[in-house]
Amino acid sequence: MTWLITGGAGYIGAHVVRAMTEAGERTVVYDDLSTGVAERVPRGVPLVTGSTLDADLLSRTLGEHAVTGVVHLAGKKQVGESVGMPLHYYHENVEGLRVLLAAVTEAGVASFVFSSSAAVYGMPDVDLVTEETPCLPMSPYGETKLAGEWLVRATGRAHGLSTASLRYFNVAGAASPDLADRGVFNLIPMVFEKLTAGESPRVFGADYPTPDGTCVRDYIHVADLAEAHVATARTLASAARGTDLTLNIGRGEGVSVREMATLINEVTGYDRPATVTARRPGDPARVVASADRAAKELGWSAKRDVREMVASAWAGWADRG
Ligand code: WQD
Repeated sequence: MTWLITGGAGYIGAHVVRAMTEAGERTVVYDDLSTGVAERVPRGVPLVTGSTLDADLLSRTLGEHAVTGVVHLAGKKQVGESVGMPLHYYHENVEGLRVLLAAVTEAGVASFVFSSSAAVYGMPDVDLVTEETPCLPMSPYGETKLAGEWLVRATGRAHGLSTASLRYFNVAGAASPDLADRGVFNLIPMVFEKLTAGESPRVFGADYPTPDGTCVRDYIHVADLAEAHVATARTLASAARGTDLTLNIGRGEGVSVREMATLINEVTGYDRPATVTARRPGDPARVVASADRAAKELGWSAKRDVREMVASAWAGWADRG
């Protein structure tokens, strides 16, 4: 098979391309390079620079490379930004997906893997979030991911396309420093930024109904996440036409902000306790996956622990240009 990886020059996408290539799959990257970086695409993997809103370029690319499967990671992903720019997020994430699916069904592609998010759950009120937990997204970003899942599933049903929506939990770390996340939008890089600036990391609220009062999340190493894509691609490729999977991709283990701040100090050699500041609006107290369905359907589970995530993210931070 040949897999088109949209967003393959991004942080997660580049890890997916590397894992798929190492597993012996043929890949082609499709990325508009708005946030992606061409240097992340391995030598020997074709890079097509374009938008998923460009129907003609998509059709040409699918045909020229005889693409049989698509892993769709391209999209906008800043929760806060999406609140102020809902039209832009719906256009890029939902209309971009619709245009891509139209080209995909026209080209007779067999398998489609969609990059979704735990953001579809919003503020879940359960210990472990299963795929049956009600989806009540709290931001336009989360809404576009849920609408995307619906669009993918409906298109799969109507056109005999095998589909999977992977709901990523909190992705962190890097397989190698050159593939590290370059943004400073999530907890681990935000703590790095403070520590290296000689300031105290911030904990956004310590009065949550959790054991230490800080928010609990399910952090997953990006290399494990990438391997979940390989397992999904293989599962879809050998599944009956029209197969449809919705899977949480997490570790099933909660880590609090305070635990993470302590671990980051340990790994980086700093000794700067975090300062508690006000809650960040919209943060759920606890979001931890039940990872059972992915284990059952894919025979995949995460292998790398939080220390490996922090250490590899730190190596990438030091390597930044
Ligand atoms: C984690 C925890 C913060 C920085 C978001 C999206 C989600 C997904 C991943 C998708 C929270 C706390 C953070 C800091 C802190 N995105 N924090 N001090 O919000 O769980 O998930 O990113 O593409 O959809 O919602 O991740 O890393 O921002 O925060 O206390 O300096 O760390 O309040 O509790 P979040 P995060």
